[in-house]
Amino acid sequence: MLSTPFVLTLSLLLSLPILFLVAPRILPPHPTNHPIPISASDELDDINLFNRAIAQNSNSNPSKFFHLSSKNPSLKIAFLFLTNSDLHFSPLWDLFFQNANNNLFNIYVHADPYVNLTRPLSPLFHKFIPAKRTFRASPTLISATRRLLATALLDDPANNYFALLSQHCVPLHSFSYVYRSLFISPTFDSSDPDSSRFGVRLRYKSFVEILSDSPKLWKRYVARGRFSMMPEISFEQFRVGSQFFTLTRRHALLVVKDRTLWRKFKIPCYRDDECYPEEHYFPTLLSMRDSDGCTKYTLTKVNWTGTVNGHPYTYRPAEVSPELILRLRQSNHSESYLFARKFTPDCLEPLLRIAKSVIFKD
Ligand SMILES: *[C@@H]1O[C@H](CO)[C@@H](O)[C@H](O)[C@H]1NC(C)=O
Ligand SMILES: *[C@@H]1O[C@H](CO)[C@@H](O)[C@H](O)[C@H]1NC(C)=O
Ligand SMILES: *[C@@H]1O[C@H](CO)[C@@H](O)[C@H](O)[C@H]1NC(C)=O
Repeated sequence: MLSTPFVLTLSLLLSLPILFLVAPRILPPHPTNHPIPISASDELDDINLFNRAIAQNSNSNPSKFFHLSSKNPSLKIAFLFLTNSDLHFSPLWDLFFQNANNNLFNIYVHADPYVNLTRPLSPLFHKFIPAKRTFRASPTLISATRRLLATALLDDPANNYFALLSQHCVPLHSFSYVYRSLFISPTFDSSDPDSSRFGVRLRYKSFVEILSDSPKLWKRYVARGRFSMMPEISFEQFRVGSQFFTLTRRHALLVVKDRTLWRKFKIPCYRDDECYPEEHYFPTLLSMRDSDGCTKYTLTKVNWTGTVNGHPYTYRPAEVSPELILRLRQSNHSESYLFARKFTPDCLEPLLRIAKSVIFKD
């Protein structure tokens, strides 16, 4: 017969691994420098917005093929600015849009309502959408992006590409170059020779970076607890990529419809330094649902050499030159990068000086 102390010891020993397994769920997350960000009421507001966007688009089935028709007289690019500070480069973007046909684009801004920012003078930037607070390296950035996508989907059925940008992004080409590259050029995207035939674009892909071989991937995957992403997302399905992308309308809708992956990615991380959900959610979702519909590279050039604290290299005024712009454009994946980040706000003057002669000269 087993003695009581022995049974006690045995059960304690047996419960240790179990405790270890469930520990991440029952222990409170480490204190972080921001509160657990997404409240039930914020979540409900978002779900209502997303449902409206889904309902309005339930009859249309945005396809891989774009059609110019009487119902869809123009194909537009929705420029989505996600910011938590002034839009420092809006005068440069103003010039970018100055020569564009107004029927070919829309601009939407999600600005953190807790920041007292100066609205750009240009009326182009006056579509500030209902926004909520955002925190770096947190699921609030995913929510803000989905809010921008849903609002742009609802606002104009002609929005067919959705380009996510930040206040630190600058254009590397003229509007017409960007427009032609996305909608018309049969040679712009080097990733898919079958996307065009006889010089005509047939397929439209999302330009979103999707990588599976990053050294930090495992740490990021388990950042919410060893099994927290299962069973919806196995480690083999987990991806990383640039936070800034250009999506087709079909994919914008796919992102707004998602509930399954969002339930996982909104779980707070234990460690801030291994979190960055916004760099994982979109690449993982799109790679799982329509990998072939994505180019797997981004159109926004970032310099990750000498990265500090998860921030990419930030260019200063003395570095801004025609040569820098030409260097930033160079891509192995497409004919050119279209946007670049990051620049300090005081780069505006030197950038404006070379805008006409270099940046917008294609
Ligand atoms: C916001 O900025 C303006 C202009 O700088 C200032 O007058 C105002 O008091 C600020 N408001 C808050 C809430 O900080
Ligand atoms: C990238 O940043 C490094 C500094 O970390 C700099 O030396 C290099 O010139 C930059 N590359 C480009 C293409 O600007
Ligand atoms: C293009 O690929 C080559 C070979 O992998 C690499 O050395 C080069 O740095 C890449 N260029 C750019 C602009 O990424």
